[in-house]
Amino acid sequence: MKIFVPLDSAAKALGADEVAAAIQIEAGNRGLDVTVVRNGSRGMVWLEPLVEIEIDGTRKAFGAVTAEDVPSLLDGTLESLGTVEDIPFFARQTRLTFARCGLIDPLSLAEYEAHGGLVGLKRALALSEEEIVAEVTNSGLRGRGGAGFPTGIKWDTVRKAVSARKYIVCNADEGDSGTFADRMLMEGDPFTLIEGMIIAGLATGATKGFVYIRSEYPDAIAVMEAAVRIGLKAGLLGTNVLGSGKAFDLEIRTGAGAYVCGEETSLLNSLEGKRGIVRAKPPLPALEGLFGKPTVVNNVLSLATVPVIMEKGAEFYAGFGLGRSKGTMPIQIAGNVRHGGLFETAFGMPLGELINDIAGGTASGRPVKAVQVGGPLGAYMPVSKFNTPFGYEEFDGQGGLIGHAGIVVFDDRADMLKMARFAMEFCAVESCGKCTPCRIGAVRGVETIDRIDAGDAGAVHLLTDLCDTMKDGSLCALGGFTPYPVMSALTHFPEDFARQKEAAE
Ligand SMILES: Cc1cc2nc3c(=O)[nH]c(=O)nc-3n(C[C@H](O)[C@H](O)[C@H](O)COP(=O)(O)O)c2cc1C
Ligand code: SF4
Repeated sequence: MKIFVPLDSAAKALGADEVAAAIQIEAGNRGLDVTVVRNGSRGMVWLEPLVEIEIDGTRKAFGAVTAEDVPSLLDGTLESLGTVEDIPFFARQTRLTFARCGLIDPLSLAEYEAHGGLVGLKRALALSEEEIVAEVTNSGLRGRGGAGFPTGIKWDTVRKAVSARKYIVCNADEGDSGTFADRMLMEGDPFTLIEGMIIAGLATGATKGFVYIRSEYPDAIAVMEAAVRIGLKAGLLGTNVLGSGKAFDLEIRTGAGAYVCGEETSLLNSLEGKRGIVRAKPPLPALEGLFGKPTVVNNVLSLATVPVIMEKGAEFYAGFGLGRSKGTMPIQIAGNVRHGGLFETAFGMPLGELINDIAGGTASGRPVKAVQVGGPLGAYMPVSKFNTPFGYEEFDGQGGLIGHAGIVVFDDRADMLKMARFAMEFCAVESCGKCTPCRIGAVRGVETIDRIDAGDAGAVHLLTDLCDTMKDGSLCALGGFTPYPVMSALTHFPEDFARQKEAAE
């Protein structure tokens, strides 16, 4: 009998290690022949630890399992959820990037290959640089880290740059609030990311890659390091990738613990051992990046989506989605929701359907007041905008952004003035200090919101002015986008800013 217990850090935080240990002990006591496989997460965090028992090739799911449930789990008396594929939250997904996550042992290269792994890389090895880039360009893949820049165009710039040394840098700093897809992918299916990075190297002529993982992700770091060791031993990485004569080396680096180190130029400084301060652009990292060499900087999800594109073809991938938002997006649903977790779907699903239908509304049972989409720099979307389809241009048109596709839900008790203050405070704390609108502006922003809180209604126009200055004058999106949460809170929830005045009077 095979029993799957996730090693994902969210599952572990909810007791997966204790459940795995209890299964080993109980099975031993009963003399049962049980193999415990530590898989990745299936993404339904409210059901973690989600345990699956495989009998005759069928996997039955149980969740959320506690160590105390283990005797009844082995007795066969614990109520099952059926197969994971039958659970509505899972059944409604289109899993392309996350196809293998939770299904396989993350560190088994054999299982990886048995589930379609390395097909894309093998195809890429038979293509020219131009042909690989064309495939990625035609797939419509855009950067999943936040900016949505077309991945193929970035790769082509690096490909055309003339240099003896080029780099592929994977941005795994994942600092946005409510986001966890990069972590889940690295912990649950690390070879997909490695395969994507090797393909990026083949496409651009880069033979060295780095994965910059935030220090708060020790489990992801450990899994990625183990996967690199296995990849080297198996000849997937190193001087002769799958016997092709092509080289690709990969190193895992730990981040410095600053939100701004997720900004690509700041990340490059940090990788070089310098202070994580933003660089002015131009030059683009694609031309002068890590150690001054042409560098692809891509998010984990962008790179981890490349293998399926190469496996199934650009046309297949571009067949999903809406408008210029092609393919699927691993959406992360968090905050005050009943069913939080990772939901990969084709672009286009309306925001309200994701919140009310997929996530089942708030955990508190109270009405939704606002959802912040796209991390700490994303706008607060009111319920009136719930018909906005999930897509880059569609959100932009509503004064929002999808960013790394994290959704954080708030119920009617949220005080939007406090949320706006938090956005300014966050910017002040995390600012790299290079430019004045952000370094000073964010501090003044906190003070101005405190004045409004104290009943000074005249300070509202100052706040609006300040946001305009930060938006227009900041060097990077930390200072430049902080006005999104602030102004969306002010615009959509003016009563939360006026109410303070009445209290003061
Ligand atoms: C303040 C700030 C923080 C960022 N944090 C991240 C991050 O944690 N992960 C990420 O992939 N991109 C982050 N970005 C975006 C990167 O600068 C860059 O656009 C991205 O890594 C490019 O990869 P992509 O094209 O695959 O999205 C951040 C940007 C800013 C301004
Ligand atoms: S906007 Fe803020 S984080 Fe970005 S460069 Fe300026 S000071 Fe640094």
